[in-house]
Amino acid sequence: MSIFEHVKAKARECVKRIVLPEGDEPRTVQAAAKLAQEKLVIPILLGGPERIQSVAKEVGADISGIECIDPKASPKASAYAEALYELRKAKGVTLEAATQLVQDPMYYGVMMVKLGDADGLVSGAVHSTGDMLRPALQLIKTKPGNKVVSSSFLMDCPNKNLGHNGLLVYSDCVVVPCPTAEELAYIAISAAETARVLCGIEEPKVAMLSFSTKGSAKHELVSKVQEATRLAHELAPELALDGEMQLDAALVPEVGASKAPGSPVAGHANVLVFPDLQAGNIGYKMTQRIGGATAFAVLQGLAKPCNDLSRGCSVDDIVATVLCTAVQAQARD
Ligand code: ACO
Repeated sequence: MSIFEHVKAKARECVKRIVLPEGDEPRTVQAAAKLAQEKLVIPILLGGPERIQSVAKEVGADISGIECIDPKASPKASAYAEALYELRKAKGVTLEAATQLVQDPMYYGVMMVKLGDADGLVSGAVHSTGDMLRPALQLIKTKPGNKVVSSSFLMDCPNKNLGHNGLLVYSDCVVVPCPTAEELAYIAISAAETARVLCGIEEPKVAMLSFSTKGSAKHELVSKVQEATRLAHELAPELALDGEMQLDAALVPEVGASKAPGSPVAGHANVLVFPDLQAGNIGYKMTQRIGGATAFAVLQGLAKPCNDLSRGCSVDDIVATVLCTAVQAQARD
């Protein structure tokens, strides 16, 4: 079963409300219509109702029955502003500024999720990653027991001998440029959760990647991964996680057996944790462009799910991201 089929089947089990702040963006409107028609989620579009209706007409999308909310005219705006002010006053946000902020669909959408009026949020067809992430980081914050928001790429590789029938989870490739050892440990634990929740991998095997395997090289960069491995074991002793190890030791059974004998992960890893964002971002793009894998990104570690789109996304990409968000929301129930 592909990731898409897996999340589609899961989403139907308990239908979630997902808010789309870029509610007048043509691909988003088409995706919302598709999701509502198939009863996979309850989409909520934010924006001026006339503009949303006119975009729907232009793209031939039936949005009858879909809730559209104009943050500038919403009766809930003042309650959201009050709540945002309470959450951010220590950071210097005034009530006046909070009132302005909730007129922005990104902030309004994040407040809907924060206050339980939506179960998750998807944005980024227009906004940059940073602009999409900041309100979620500031207001939704990390889930209890976690200290860092990060991302995973779900990589579907043509070589089905790799990972879990060709599925590999790569982390972090989007958010944390230079993680500390502690942050890397939390990233590894979040990536294992993503593998379970979104890929149906019941037993994630997490490899903490480096240019060294089990002390074969000595360098402060290697020490950071060793420390992250130690901390991750402390935080999640039940998790099959090992490191530090090179990529071939993580993926190739013979190399794993020779370089890391007795490891519960080496040679069979299905979750790869990169030591920093440069390695992760380059790694996923190489797998995609040179290795021919399909790549799909999600955020992890937030108290409630919010996901980012690429600005070049298709309608199907938005549908898939919304479905993943709904399944992440189910996992928070
Ligand atoms: N986890 C949890 N909280 C975080 C994180 C994180 N990873 N990063 C920032 N925060 C919190 C901060 O503590 C702060 O909270 P506070 O205001 O309550 O004190 C708040 O979020 C804002 O933090 P800033 O440091 O002001 O946010 P910044 O402007 O640095 O933005 C961002 C954070 C956007 C995630 C930044 O780290 C970033 O730009 N990362 C790289 C994004 C990127 O360009 N990725 C590559 C391209 S995407 C691709 O290729 C698919």
